[in-house]
Amino acid sequence: MRTILIATSNPGKLRDFAGAAARRGIEIAGIPEFSSLPSVVEDGLTFEANACKKAEAYSRYVPGEIVVADDSGLEVDALNGAPGVHSARYAAPDMHNKEPHEADANTDDEANNARVLRELRGVPHARRTGRFVCVLAAARDGKTLATFRGTAEGIILEGPRGGNGFGYDPLFYFPQIGKTFAELTAEEKSQYSHRGAAFRDFLRWCDAEE
Ligand code: IMP
Repeated sequence: MRTILIATSNPGKLRDFAGAAARRGIEIAGIPEFSSLPSVVEDGLTFEANACKKAEAYSRYVPGEIVVADDSGLEVDALNGAPGVHSARYAAPDMHNKEPHEADANTDDEANNARVLRELRGVPHARRTGRFVCVLAAARDGKTLATFRGTAEGIILEGPRGGNGFGYDPLFYFPQIGKTFAELTAEEKSQYSHRGAAFRDFLRWCDAEE
């Protein structure tokens, strides 16, 4: 069975990738000793820039292997695209008195969700549109080979719903099937999510490369 190395320590992301890969007979694994490798500063202005930076840096630790890194986040239209590339540390002003781009650590999901809800207070349902974006970069020996972008369009609810998933999933209502992302099974998430869409493009690219 073919194994793809994913550069992430986020168990939610690994779970999403494993769900999408299983049906294709591909095994997903983390990079060995990932947590002891120096972390990559995600200071890019776009999801693409951050995904490439991570994939290139981590691929240097596993010569000859294809390493996939993802950068992802939530774009809310009424917040001019925020939290965007700062999704993982959006609550930094609340938690650490720093702007997200200055923060050196992620902030927890609950605090990030609370900030989004606070900033959307009073915004009517019809204007609470947004999307999850995922960009994957595949790199080998420090060079990006290709990038893949997936999106999922939805509505930001006024409170959380559902117990699955991670991050902003409980706030993200997906009208296509009338559930929040935190109400999806792992299979449904891989079918409908931004990460699943980007990963399927990556798998097609892998097939073409063989
Ligand atoms: P990064 O890609 O590690 O920089 O972090 C992306 C952040 O975006 C996560 O910490 C979550 O807050 C959010 N995010 C990305 N993808 C998802 C998803 O599938 N569900 C919920 N939140 C997500």
